Amino acid sequence: MSSSEPTPARPNILLLMSGSIACAKATALISEWTKRGHKVRVACTRSVAEFVGAATLQGLGAEVVFDNVFTPGQVMEHISLGRWADIVIAAPATSNLINKLSTGIADDAVSTVWQAAYGQGKPMVIVPAMNTRMWRYPATQESINRLKQWGIHVLPVGKGKLACGEHGEGRLPEPLEILQMVDRLLTFDPSTNGQRILITAGGTRERIDSVRYIGNMSSGRTASRLAEELTAAGHAVTWLGAEDAVRPGPVARLESYYSFADLETRLQALLGSGGYDVVIHAAAVSDFSVARVESAGHGTLEHGGEKLPSECGLILHLKPNPKLLDSLKTWSGNPALRVIGFKLTDSKDPQQRMAAVKKQFDSSAVDAVVHNDLAEISQTSHPFYLYTSSLQPVHCADSDVLARKINELLAKRWREQPDEVLP
Ligand SMILES: Cc1cc2nc3c(=O)[nH]c(=O)nc-3n(C[C@H](O)[C@H](O)[C@H](O)COP(=O)(O)O)c2cc1C
Repeated sequence: MSSSEPTPARPNILLLMSGSIACAKATALISEWTKRGHKVRVACTRSVAEFVGAATLQGLGAEVVFDNVFTPGQVMEHISLGRWADIVIAAPATSNLINKLSTGIADDAVSTVWQAAYGQGKPMVIVPAMNTRMWRYPATQESINRLKQWGIHVLPVGKGKLACGEHGEGRLPEPLEILQMVDRLLTFDPSTNGQRILITAGGTRERIDSVRYIGNMSSGRTASRLAEELTAAGHAVTWLGAEDAVRPGPVARLESYYSFADLETRLQALLGSGGYDVVIHAAAVSDFSVARVESAGHGTLEHGGEKLPSECGLILHLKPNPKLLDSLKTWSGNPALRVIGFKLTDSKDPQQRMAAVKKQFDSSAVDAVVHNDLAEISQTSHPFYLYTSSLQPVHCADSDVLARKINELLAKRWREQPDEVLP
């Protein structure tokens, strides 16, 4: 770039601070982001002033320090800060703040700004810091899980000596880790070969009533590893997973689904935006949904709602679900979308396995298929075979190797087939 060209604007960062001993450590983030050309604004809870003052935060580079929703002349700041931000980071996040955010309390500058910023499609990150027992407190753990389910990124806490003198988990992660995580969430640049990847994970659940469902055994573990490895390789990964699926570490975006219909709606919305280059469809999708429930004594019952009576037999009428894999390209606003399907077989016969893979290529609009077979999966081993249309399998000993091989395929931009058959 010539010196006359303006430097492209760096994303705006909104830092939300709460009252922790780690406030001092977190101030390093403000100066580092400012040095790198980001604009930084800060919202603080009232207790932050016990640890660092507004003058320090401003001195380090914060454009604004907002700590009172009723500040004269700034009464709309609690809304405008969230609009202004490209990313929202709560660091340090106290146990008090985390539990408030998960229950919807908005009684101060930070919790109000957070709620008003949510739902605009911007990455939102929580960086907890607290004593080990506060971290392990059941309410705190439940709140963390809840926030993750709402698509919030939560950085793992650090372990070691805590400010209270105890050893354990609960330390604020090192500023470098936080900076790297924020970079990953912000600095996706397609020109560096990074691609926009949507990964579906886990299994659908088809509601029978308020407590029962038809599900499957998918854990989402493989998809979670793929999401982490492909993020580390520089891709912008959206993980769209079942509510109970194994969640990946930091990725660009986390979304969850419940049933087949829910997953279908979310896929249509995400792909319709044209924002993806690749879909890796690893979710185990139910072949059937519940159409009708009949009871011997009560005729047809309302299903999906209240708990059904258990004293008489039930007949479930199931309707077949269409194959989502067949529609992914038609829903995509990007006509160049590539699709990687997954095929699980349960057969020792190599011909039957190959026939199943070939059928997926023949019947669905896929560019590659990841095959695995139940007979080869155990507690300690889970191999995969990656196929492109040449039907030459690339053996992958585990999900890490699979991620690497998929990454190689993406790097080649699909021009070549995987060219080696690993032992
Ligand atoms: C010296 C000191 C250090 C503290 N460090 C933490 C901490 O790291 N994490 C935490 O959750 N609470 C910590 N607390 C307690 C919180 O400051 C307290 O719960 C406060 O009400 C949090 O309010 P806020 O979440 O609105 O900022 C600390 C308190 C003191 C006095």
